Amino acid sequence: MAWAKADWRAKPRVQMPDYLDAAALGAVESRLSKYPPLVFAGEARTLKADLAAAGRGEAFLLQGGDCAESFAEFSADTIRDTFKVMLQMAMVLTFGAKVPVVKVGRMAGQFAKPRSAPTEVKDGVELPSYRGDIINELAFTPEARIPDASKMLEAYTQAAATLNLLRAFSKGGFADVHQVHAWTLGFAEGERAAQYRDMAGRIQDTLDFMTAAGFTAEANNELSTVDFYTSHEALLLEYEEALCRQDSLTGDWLAGSGHMIWIGDRTRQLDGAHVEFCRGVLNPIGLKCGPTTSEEDLKVLIEKLNPENEMGRLTLIARFGAGKVGDHLPRLIKTVQQMGANVVWTCDAMHGNTIKSSSGYKTRPFESVLREVQEFFAIHRAEGTVPGGVHFEMTGQDVTECTGGVRAVTDEDLGSRYHTACDPRLNASQSLELAFLVAEELSGLRADRQRAAS
Ligand code: PEP
Ligand code: CO
Repeated sequence: MAWAKADWRAKPRVQMPDYLDAAALGAVESRLSKYPPLVFAGEARTLKADLAAAGRGEAFLLQGGDCAESFAEFSADTIRDTFKVMLQMAMVLTFGAKVPVVKVGRMAGQFAKPRSAPTEVKDGVELPSYRGDIINELAFTPEARIPDASKMLEAYTQAAATLNLLRAFSKGGFADVHQVHAWTLGFAEGERAAQYRDMAGRIQDTLDFMTAAGFTAEANNELSTVDFYTSHEALLLEYEEALCRQDSLTGDWLAGSGHMIWIGDRTRQLDGAHVEFCRGVLNPIGLKCGPTTSEEDLKVLIEKLNPENEMGRLTLIARFGAGKVGDHLPRLIKTVQQMGANVVWTCDAMHGNTIKSSSGYKTRPFESVLREVQEFFAIHRAEGTVPGGVHFEMTGQDVTECTGGVRAVTDEDLGSRYHTACDPRLNASQSLELAFLVAEELSGLRADRQRAAS
C-alpha cells in the first residue's frame, strides 16, 4: 500500500501537543529535515536480523533505559553508567544462559511521553501535563507547560551526542569483554554483586585460557566490541517525520531518529496517526500490548505493521502487570499463532506495575516486576512459544524509585534519591538482580528443550 512520510497528518492523532506558533514549528521542522539522520538503514536492517534471531529463540533482546531522557540529567556519566549496567546484564545472560544478547537502549531519543491525564492538579492549581523535555518542561508553571517546538532541536543535539558516546563506548575498547570486572559500579553490593564478580572471574579465566591457546586473533573483534542499538517511542510525529530519510540503495524509508521505534499503549489506534507513520518505515517496530489490546485489534495491527510477515520486523511488548499476564498473554499468543505471524515476544515488566506508595511517590514494587517476568516465561513455556526478550526502565544511577530488591528500598526511602523525570526506574542493583533471574529462566527453558530433544 502506498505510503508517504507525511500521511499521518491526515489521521486522527492523540497524545501530541498543539503548538500555538505554527511558524516556529515549521521553521524547526525545516531545519531538522536538513540535519543528518542519527542512524542508518544498514544498521536498522542488522538490528532486524538480530531481532529475528531473538524471535526464533536463538538470541535474547535486552531493551532498557530511562522512562524519559531529560535535558537536566544529560551527562557522560549518566550515559556511561546505564551502558555499564546493560553490559553487565548482557554478560549475565550470555554467560548464565548461553545466549547472545541483542542490546537496545531506551536512549538517544526517548524524550516524548504519553500521559494518562491531559492536565495535572497541584494544590488546587490545574496545568497541562508534562509531556517530556522534547515538548515542554517539568516545572509546575503555566509557561513551562507550553509546548515549544524549538525543544526538538535540543533533543536532536542531545540524541546525537548520546549516540556518539554510545558508539565510542561500543567500539572503542570500553565494551571489550576483558573489561568485564570494570563494568561494576561502586555502590553495587550484596549477593548479586558478589555473584557478578564471581562470574567475571570465571570469564577472565576463560579469556586467559583462550589467549594461551592462541584464539585471540580470530575472536578479537567479537570480544572487543559490541553492537548497541537505540530505541524510543515514536510519539512526536513532527520530529519523526523531519528525521525520516529515503535509503538511496533501496528507495525504502528509514526513521532516522533511532534504530528501533515503538508504538505506545495509548497510541495504537488502528487508523490513527502513529500506526500510519510506523507502518511505512523500514526499522524494526515495537508494539506495546496491554490489557486493553483485543485479539481483533492485534490481528489488524500485525497485518498493517508487518504485511510481509518478516521475522524481526515486529516486536510485541507485553505489559499487562503482575498477576494479569495469564489473563491476556495466552489469548494474544493464540491470535499470533492462528495468523502464523512472525513476531518477537518481549516482556515490559514496568508499565503494568506502577502504584502510588504510602509516602505519595509513584513507584513499582520490585517483587511485581520480578513476578511479571516469571509469569511471562511460565506462559511461554506452557504454550511452547518463544520468550524473546525483556524491556525495563532502568538506570545506572543509584536511585531509589522502585521499592524492594536486595538492598531493600522502602516506601520511606523513595524520597532520598528519586530523580526520574517520569516513571520510576530500577537502579543498578535491582537491574542486575533481574538479569540473574532472567538468566535462570532462560537456563530452565534450555534444559526443557534439551530434554525434549533427547
Ligand atoms: C513507556 O514505555 O514509557 C510507556 C509509556 O509505555 P506504555 O505505552 O506501555 O504505557
Ligand atoms: Co515509562
